[in-house]
Amino acid sequence: MCGIVGFTGSRQAAPILLKGLGRLEYRGYDSAGIAVVHDGAIEVEKVSGRIAKLCEKTKDGAAVPGTVGIGHTRWATHGAPTDFNAHPHVSNDGRFAVVHNGIIENYLALREELIADGYVFHSETDTETIVHLLELYYDGDVKAAVMKTAARLEGSYALGILCTDTPDALYVVREASPLILGVGVGENYFASDVTALVSHTKNVIYMEDGEFAVLTPDAVTVYDCTGRETKKPVSRVTWSVEAAEKGGYEHFMLKEIMEQPAAVKAAIAPRLHEGRVCLDDFELTAEQLRSINKIVITACGSAYYAGCSGRYAIERLCRIPVQVELASELRYSDPMVDEHTLVLVISQSGETADTIAALKECKARGATVLGIVNVVGSTIAKLADHTLYTWAGPEIAVATTKGYTTQLAVLYLFALYAADRLGRIDEARYKALVHELMELPRRIQQTIDMNWQLPAVASRYSSRSLFFIGRNTDYAVALEGALKMKEISYLHAESYAAGELKHGTIALIEENQPVIAVCCNEAIADKTLSNIVEVKARGAKVLALAFRDNRKIVSQADDVIFIPRVETVFSAALAVVPLQLLAYYAAKEKGCDIDKPKNLAKSVTVE
Ligand code: M6R
Repeated sequence: MCGIVGFTGSRQAAPILLKGLGRLEYRGYDSAGIAVVHDGAIEVEKVSGRIAKLCEKTKDGAAVPGTVGIGHTRWATHGAPTDFNAHPHVSNDGRFAVVHNGIIENYLALREELIADGYVFHSETDTETIVHLLELYYDGDVKAAVMKTAARLEGSYALGILCTDTPDALYVVREASPLILGVGVGENYFASDVTALVSHTKNVIYMEDGEFAVLTPDAVTVYDCTGRETKKPVSRVTWSVEAAEKGGYEHFMLKEIMEQPAAVKAAIAPRLHEGRVCLDDFELTAEQLRSINKIVITACGSAYYAGCSGRYAIERLCRIPVQVELASELRYSDPMVDEHTLVLVISQSGETADTIAALKECKARGATVLGIVNVVGSTIAKLADHTLYTWAGPEIAVATTKGYTTQLAVLYLFALYAADRLGRIDEARYKALVHELMELPRRIQQTIDMNWQLPAVASRYSSRSLFFIGRNTDYAVALEGALKMKEISYLHAESYAAGELKHGTIALIEENQPVIAVCCNEAIADKTLSNIVEVKARGAKVLALAFRDNRKIVSQADDVIFIPRVETVFSAALAVVPLQLLAYYAAKEKGCDIDKPKNLAKSVTVE
């Protein structure tokens, strides 16, 4: 939630800040602002609404002189998305400006204290307390003021700070919110995400909790939480600028759907050697695996639904009980995990607040944590005992697509790896499944190619509230399909285990009610077929999703989306693709803002 950027160098800062904010807009888009030091004073421009409005107001930054500045794009938490609540916030004496990503949990107490001290507040935000604390603690040493201020804050924050007394310097500090420094030549940067940095530099420093840094055009100096200078490794970002651009597609979401064959290949191919799954980044002996009596998968949103699919693969292949828990629930449930539990924590961003909290709860109880994460260097990647990266590349659209399918790919690899290590799969089946995994990217491509008719199908099925049904692995896909539809097209969509229809929901079925039935799990497809017949008898209009050669379904459903045949345990990776496209085309027809759906943000870093 919220994106922050900063620049110090000899070029004009505002256009660079605005471009950087543009790349971070997926993190929040309620309001935007920049602050620049110019002629010894801080100049602020901010607007409620999108960054485009700020670009218009500042003539793409050209109207704001100065070579050092900070910027912010907001997902509102404290106070409505108004101009005065937009960041940056400035101290009463005009000396400091601050941008903040995170939440200050003790802001009310701080606010009362500062008001009693005579400070005047101009916004309803938690962030404004920070800038007044800086003024309060400043006695000529910015570093000391920042450290004293940070010591008063409870919650999460990545802060970017300007001070007019040190006009070429940027100050940053982080606690539980992402912050990355970009190291350039004669200029330096900070941002919430590398996507805002790659067009300038690929040399980055990942800040850790409690660390503080000072950036000038010629130096980046990082300090630990005690104020001691610390040498940080400079990492190299491997992906190109183009990866974070639309590349001719109308929306990032469509581009990312189309990137799935390549993304899934990047997740799988390097982990297959001579026909065997090798998780170099996570090696467990058979003995270690045998000491695990339960696997808990925890995550939020689509990552949780990936976990639901993964559960079937792991249980079926490894015969280890798997419990899938929403991280927001697990964190408060006094979870029954211990040193014999392996916890799989799944997150595209690696920064989801509830998922991080669930991870910490499980670790504190002695569980081994394996992170399945896309963003390199993210909080979850650092906190987990082991991390398997999904290698999806940057995902910009708020609705995850390649993030989700690459999570599935890694879960499948894990299931196969563990089954093999535990000796619970015979060699012939193992070889067949490895072959299926190698083939997945090609089959995802075929799925995309086969479904050129989806815009017309979407138009027929997306006029009102929809039901998504399925059983077992298909139910997991239905959950994700319904979420995609809701979040980008704003259509009401509900997913049900098909067998549950009769226990209440079928009362809602009436003439022309759209029902999307996922029928790719052939062992129980006939059961779902019966449910199709039942809803049709009550007037429903049924769109089924099935393997290409499933002829039975054609006689029962009104329309069918076909996908190539694939091993059932891996079928979610294909079946979800038409559902992503269906949601995309439904949203497009309704004229929705597909990449930035209302009220959402890509990375949910608050509870
Ligand atoms: O970054 P994460 O994978 O931890 O995010 C979890 C959810 O917030 C995320 O999957 C969300 O549900 C997506 N917007 C769904 O498309």
